Amino acid sequence: MDQTHRVRIAGTDTDLSVAQDQPILDAALRANAWIPHSCTQGTCGTCKLKVLCGAVDHHGSPDYTLTAEERSSGLALACMATPRTDVTVEPIGAVDDGVPHHPLRDYTGTVIQLDDIAANTRRLVVELDTEMTFNAGQYSELIVPGTGVGRQYSMANPPSESRRLEFHVKLTPGGLATDGWIFSSLSVGDPISLRGPLGQFNLVAEQPQPAILIGGGTGLAPLKSIVQHSLAHQLVPEIYLYHGGRRREDLYDFEYFTALSEDNANLHYRPALSEETWSGANGLVTDVVLEDFSSCKGMSAYLCGPPAMIEASVKALKRRRMAPRLIFREEFTPAATPKSNS
Ligand SMILES: Cc1cc2nc3c(=O)[nH]c(=O)nc-3n(C[C@H](O)[C@H](O)[C@H](O)COP(=O)(O)OP(=O)(O)OC[C@H]3O[C@@H](n4cnc5c(N)ncnc54)[C@H](O)[C@@H]3O)c2cc1C
Ligand code: FES
Repeated sequence: MDQTHRVRIAGTDTDLSVAQDQPILDAALRANAWIPHSCTQGTCGTCKLKVLCGAVDHHGSPDYTLTAEERSSGLALACMATPRTDVTVEPIGAVDDGVPHHPLRDYTGTVIQLDDIAANTRRLVVELDTEMTFNAGQYSELIVPGTGVGRQYSMANPPSESRRLEFHVKLTPGGLATDGWIFSSLSVGDPISLRGPLGQFNLVAEQPQPAILIGGGTGLAPLKSIVQHSLAHQLVPEIYLYHGGRRREDLYDFEYFTALSEDNANLHYRPALSEETWSGANGLVTDVVLEDFSSCKGMSAYLCGPPAMIEASVKALKRRRMAPRLIFREEFTPAATPKSNS
């Protein structure tokens, strides 16, 4: 039988039985005990916690998110660390962020659609065997068959479609999940395993501020979920949706969002191209936002895509006086290179 250890989360009633090889974050989220987290792969540092007593294994926690100094002072990454003994831990971030969360679960389903929708980009639609409840903006980890390895992909469908999950996937040449599976062997009708929901990028409650949504490439995925959910529940007074690509072939769901914005006067859709002149907005998407707004004071932002685009967007929005606490982001960071236990 697998050995388990008790993991207590200080300051809460949470007392978990965690398998020796199970990351603390995984066990906590399955018990619906919230620990702030973003990437679930050791690359963002959001899930840091303090080990108050007991010992953990850090596994492949990268040095750039958990320095040697942090390890020796008792910090750990909840998404990587497994208990070596019974432990008491204290998350660094708030365990109650005021958002209703949904427990993490394993799911199985079937691929019902797999289409090329833009350059090196596919839409993957999965019909789940059972419903998944999640917040608009969250993601799942698709399990690459035969490896047990999970890769993160944001749900592009609204939470109301709880058995039909839509993902937008960009090809990474040589990548395990994309080149080696989703863009090669995966077919309609194939079974698929995943776990979710994960992440703290979401828009669930009514907010008084207008929202600027900026997606780079497949960073449009969680924003599509957020847009649909917000429009259905009238959560946001005005939505400014920006989608950045280099060329026209990089844009997708153009007709869908054009029609949606014609039907919803409070949705403003602005796709932008940086390397091709066309009738829409021209330039880097962040420069287009800077041109469109002389001030972003009193507005919020939801940013998703490659880390460089997010960094540039945050800089641009701060220049336009948006409050940093109203800037929410999801970075599509690549997985860290595996390394030995420590
Ligand atoms: C929270 C989260 C949500 C995500 N959501 C989506 C999504 O909705 N759609 C989507 O397309 N992707 C998304 N990603 C990225 C996705 O999870 C994978 O990282 C990506 O698809 C590559 O996986 P892979 O297994 O094919 O490549 P890997 O085998 O992981 O990578 C192969 C090689 O390429 C490098 N590499 C991988 N990606 C990049 C990159 N972007 N830039 C530079 N080098 C890279 C790796 O370091 C490695 O050397 C998300 C990532 C995170 C953290
Ligand atoms: S490092 Fe753990 S969630 Fe990102």
